[in-house]
Amino acid sequence: MQVKQSNPNEQRSLVLIKPDAIQRGLAGETISRLERRGVKIVAMKMLQMDKTLAQRHYAIHKDKAFFNKLVDFITSSPIIAIVFQGKDAVEIVRQTMGRTDPVKALPGTIRGDFGLDIEHNLIHGSDSAENASAEINLF
Ligand code: RTP
Ligand code: MG
Repeated sequence: MQVKQSNPNEQRSLVLIKPDAIQRGLAGETISRLERRGVKIVAMKMLQMDKTLAQRHYAIHKDKAFFNKLVDFITSSPIIAIVFQGKDAVEIVRQTMGRTDPVKALPGTIRGDFGLDIEHNLIHGSDSAENASAEINLF
C-alpha cells in the first residue's frame, strides 16, 4: 500500500500583521495576498504583545540602535499573529512581503505597495524555517 509522504518542502512561517497595518485597514489585504500565493492559514490570533514577548521575539536585534523603538512600536497596539503553512512557506512569505525598507521593496510586494518607512513596514515574516519554529513556539 502506498503511504502518502509529507512534502519535504512543506514549511511553516510565523507572520505578524503589525500595528500600522491594522490601524490603516490593511490587515485583510495583507492576509489575502499571502493566501493567494498558496500558503494556508493553520493558526491565527489577535493580541497585544507585551514588552517581554517583543524583546524575546526580536532578541536577535537587542544590541541594535533601533531595538527600543522597534519594541515600543510592536507593543503599541494589537497585532494579528498567523501561522502560514505550505511549500517553501518561509521564502514565499518573505518574497510577498518585500524588502525591510519600503523604499527598497519592489512594487507588487506588500511593503513596496503600502509601507511608509522602515519602522512602519506592516508585516513580519520568519526569515528561516528554524526561526519559524522558535517564533511559533513563542506565540
Ligand atoms: P521583520 O523581522 O519585522 O520581519 O523584518 P525583517 O526581517 O525584514 O527585518 P529585520 O532586519 O529582522 O528587522 C526587524 C525590524 O526592525 C526594524 N528596523 N529598523 N531603523 C532601522 O534601521 C531599522 N532596521 C530594521 C524594521 O521595522 C524591521 O521590520
Ligand atoms: Mg526579521
